[in-house]
Amino acid sequence: MADQYAQSSEHTRPTELPAIPAIPAIRWDEPPEGPVLVLLDQTRLPGEESELVCTDAPALVDAIRTLAVRGAPLLGIAGAYGVALAAVRGFDVDEAADALAGARPTAVNLAYGVRRAQAAYRTAIAGGDGVGGAAGAALAAARALHAEDARASTEMAARGLALLDELLPGGGHRILTHCNTGALVSGGEGTAFAVALKAHREGSLRRLWVDETRPLLQGARLTAYEAARNEMAYTLLTDNAAGSLFAAGEVDAVLIGADRIAADGSVANKVGSYPLAVLARYHHVPFIVVAPVTTVDPATPDGASIEVELRSGHEVTEVTVPYAPMTGRDAGGGIPVAPLGTQAYNPAFDVTPPELVTAIVTEEGVLSPVTAEGLVELCARSRQV
Ligand code: MRU
Repeated sequence: MADQYAQSSEHTRPTELPAIPAIPAIRWDEPPEGPVLVLLDQTRLPGEESELVCTDAPALVDAIRTLAVRGAPLLGIAGAYGVALAAVRGFDVDEAADALAGARPTAVNLAYGVRRAQAAYRTAIAGGDGVGGAAGAALAAARALHAEDARASTEMAARGLALLDELLPGGGHRILTHCNTGALVSGGEGTAFAVALKAHREGSLRRLWVDETRPLLQGARLTAYEAARNEMAYTLLTDNAAGSLFAAGEVDAVLIGADRIAADGSVANKVGSYPLAVLARYHHVPFIVVAPVTTVDPATPDGASIEVELRSGHEVTEVTVPYAPMTGRDAGGGIPVAPLGTQAYNPAFDVTPPELVTAIVTEEGVLSPVTAEGLVELCARSRQV
């Protein structure tokens, strides 16, 4: 049964993808014209790997809102570098920090990264370092967060795979994932995707089921791209095909990332995650969340308190074509698929209650069952919280 499903829509190394150079998701650069933050423009993937160069915080805010740079851990790193950019270029650091922290509301990592770099800047100013020294301190904070996230990613992959192997002895894991959680969202190889990638490298991944992730197709465009580049056995499905996949017994575990984990263990992640958790519970399949401790927000008491970003209805009433080189259409132009004037409900995230989460895997440890007390203990192990 599994192979039938896989064969009907399998892509392991699509030949139509261009030979892809390795452009990092984010990098700080210092050309003669002045320091810049260089992003891999994720709106152009998988058709084109192009760089987006930000010379100031407003450009970065725009890149965050349009999802050129996205995913919780990477948003934190970008936010921290954004503060450094404002500082190095002599802009108002507090104003830049507020604009960056408010660019998207749900991923707590964004505000975390921004405030961490801002605090480093302020501390340096207070210590008499001067504006130049303080800008250097903000940049050092951003670089430190970048490096920490890479290390966290490696640790989460190891802990996540150990958990999978424990829950599902015998290997041959068939993992369903949603949205994009790989190297495109991280200083390292990501969160949930990094676990699947490690399983692939160690020969225990039988199949990665990739939800396309409507409406912006982070699964189809980005996770499939990362899976193809890594030569993983993966199959793309529409989000609404997940139910029949569970019913056919084709899913051994669900692995997702998180944008914010509230103090009670509620998990905000890309819209469509909660229905997967419900399906997983009904079908007795582990539902595992993989996220760095920086995604845990003790200041948000519960799921109902998490602000869920509502995005433009155009993302639902129109199909955008970001894959311009493949389609031949201009990027960003929406093709209407609903009658003009149709209203759309377009939350970017949903919230899964802790009782539906089998485990939360962080770089500091695995929490299962998910409880408020357990989260406090986990966070206490990290110097971040
Ligand atoms: O709207 P996006 O693309 O920024 O949403 C990203 C997600 O929902 C990811 O699953 C989440 O940030 C976890 S990434 C490790």
